Amino acid sequence: MKKVAVLVSGGGSNLQALIDAVKAGEIPARISLVISNKPEVYALERAAQAGIPGVVIPTKNRSREEYSRQILDKLQSEEIDLVCLAGFTRILAPLIPQAYPERILNVHPSLLPAFGGEGMYGLRVHQAVLESGTKFTGATVHLVTAETDRGPIVCQDIVKINDDDTPETLARRVLEIEHRIYPQALKILAEGRLKIKGFRTWCQEYYK
Ligand code: GRF
Repeated sequence: MKKVAVLVSGGGSNLQALIDAVKAGEIPARISLVISNKPEVYALERAAQAGIPGVVIPTKNRSREEYSRQILDKLQSEEIDLVCLAGFTRILAPLIPQAYPERILNVHPSLLPAFGGEGMYGLRVHQAVLESGTKFTGATVHLVTAETDRGPIVCQDIVKINDDDTPETLARRVLEIEHRIYPQALKILAEGRLKIKGFRTWCQEYYK
């Protein structure tokens, strides 16, 4: 049974999707820890309601190295096996993916590698998607490496962009995709069935 830590910064709707999937017995894992970089976020309330220990590790006015070192120390002291970034808004220093190779997942609200990278988060992503004229967007769950938003892709799914879409309406539809594919990606990783070659992965359970 893999021990999972989830890193959050906000509402925690993706955390909730993972909690619900684990509770339903869909994923051979236990969410043992939630780490937030902000104290007053609903994600910590969701963790408390699920009986999951939550800790705050502030990142404000701290170097990437400094807060990443503290996060890593906590992950290792709790003997965490897998890490899920779920609405976590800060970039982790390479020391974390180096300590957890192919064991950290992140969800991003676009079809990576498009509309990803430093500074591309939240409504900015959907604004850029709409301005690009593309007809489809979607969500991606990928492995975290030292390169932001550029790890091997584990799961994706798409939504068609409507003529009257706004960044807000698009964000809502993409979030629904996130809530569906994140548990699927964690299940594949927790079951040790993810095959990786370069940026490509094979995850039969999703494409069956
Ligand atoms: C989501 O839009 C997700 O794409 C991004 O963080 C946002 C908030 O997620 N990673 P959550 O509701 O806090 O899980």
